[in-house]
Amino acid sequence: MDPLPPFHDDLDAARAEVWRLLEEGPALRRNAFHMPALATVDAAGHPQVRTVVLRQADPAAGALRFHCDRRSDKASEIAASGHAALHGYDSAAKIQIRASGPATLHSDDALAEAAWAGAMAMSRICYGADPAPGAVLPRGDAYTLPDAETALTLGRPNFCAVVVRVARLEFLYLDRRGHRRAAWERAGNWRGCWLAP
Ligand SMILES: Cc1cc2nc3c(=O)[nH]c(=O)nc-3n(C[C@H](O)[C@H](O)[C@H](O)COP(=O)(O)O)c2cc1C
Repeated sequence: MDPLPPFHDDLDAARAEVWRLLEEGPALRRNAFHMPALATVDAAGHPQVRTVVLRQADPAAGALRFHCDRRSDKASEIAASGHAALHGYDSAAKIQIRASGPATLHSDDALAEAAWAGAMAMSRICYGADPAPGAVLPRGDAYTLPDAETALTLGRPNFCAVVVRVARLEFLYLDRRGHRRAAWERAGNWRGCWLAP
């Protein structure tokens, strides 16, 4: 049997492991945290969840970034509530991560410019889709996408980077010898505790 991981009974090591997994998520396509589920609450107070691509995890700032279309429901829901949550489960690591906190939309500041500049041409095209995401179509193919050149002008106004400043972080590690669950809240520094799994 494999030795227990160093974070099994070490709260600080567990938090470091959470951020390590999140930080490698954007680069590793097969990492579960490459494509976490994003949860928001809609105008009726109902939960909504969907997949997004994690673009950056910044352990020092305790922040997570993804991109979306300003015209999308998720953007409106985040603008209205000011909050979002992300979730991923890595079946290889047997670790579930839940992160939530205040979320901000960035469409015309330096952060948005840098994110747009770093986006791939293929991704930029999606932001020039007409009609807007979620519009009812008469047929499945009744929408258009611009070419890469036109996307630079058509897509940019719809592009939005979202930053979630993590206020609560939760980790669940599954092991037959003893599951481990922990949560941290940000109160200046991170304050954590073990929880019953
Ligand atoms: C693998 C995968 C990755 C996705 N990545 C993103 C993303 O990074 N940003 C985004 O806005 N939507 C992304 N989507 C689409 C969303 O999951 C969702 O279907 C769409 O954005 C509409 O969501 P909304 O109406 O709740 O805003 C992705 C979907 C899949 C299946």
